[in-house]
Amino acid sequence: MEIIRTPVEMTAWANRTLAGGQTIGLVPTMGFFHEGHLRLMRKAREKAKRTVVSLFVNPIQFGANEDLGRYPRDFVRDCQLAEGEGVDVLFAPEVQAMYPAEASTRVVVSRLTDGLCGASRPGHFAGVTTVVAKLFHIIKPHCAVFGRKDFQQLAVIERMVADLNWDIEIIGHPIVREADGLAMSSRNVYLSASERQAALCLFRAIGHARRRVRTGPVEAKVLLQEVEELLQQEAVAIEYVSLVDQTTLQPQAVFRKGAVLAMAIRVGATRLIDNDNLFEEN
Ligand code: PAF
Repeated sequence: MEIIRTPVEMTAWANRTLAGGQTIGLVPTMGFFHEGHLRLMRKAREKAKRTVVSLFVNPIQFGANEDLGRYPRDFVRDCQLAEGEGVDVLFAPEVQAMYPAEASTRVVVSRLTDGLCGASRPGHFAGVTTVVAKLFHIIKPHCAVFGRKDFQQLAVIERMVADLNWDIEIIGHPIVREADGLAMSSRNVYLSASERQAALCLFRAIGHARRRVRTGPVEAKVLLQEVEELLQQEAVAIEYVSLVDQTTLQPQAVFRKGAVLAMAIRVGATRLIDNDNLFEEN
């Protein structure tokens, strides 16, 4: 596996690869890999001849009081894991290489970024779309794989790609869960044993909602209230519990195919998100 540190070298590799007629699959990450990331890498390998994983803790998607400074990192282990998955290139640029002092451009997707996580994390999605747009220009992938745990992020990136007429296939990968149902996340490492137990309320809430929608029609406001009550049984702070359309992210009044139950909570100092498209098999 090649480790590339600069955008210029990365683009030179991409140009050589494309000139040789090979396709490129990209997995954008912020590192500290877990099984969820490894599944994204496998998916990219299935879809393209060469696989690039970007590892960049993107400072502009973190708010002033968020966890940029303590975001978990382990470069050596990440390299071993990516290499084990047969990744061709790990692109790990420095912050200055991605954002030189004079950089002044942001890529902003409007509307879809107003609600859900966008409401409590102003500027977050502009940071995400800016870095993803830069990665697309630098790496020139045919396809890019993102996890559905960040389903708002996925909807926003799909919108950006469509709006900017980018010929890149965006692939959403199902959420990968621990054996007890906790959605895998690099941030799970922040949780104490008791917080981790409390965090399982997200998966219990999804199970409850899945059972309820199978037994007959249920109004969104009734079920959302039940989900909130279930979450409140644990020592967690609810940021939002919503039912939204998976593409437009508009609130939905009834549970139906294409609607997503989306939740964000705080367990101690850790913010966790989870979601489920209640009618689909996992
Ligand atoms: O989902 C993530 O890890 C990040 O938001 C991404 C897409 C790599 C952009 O920094």
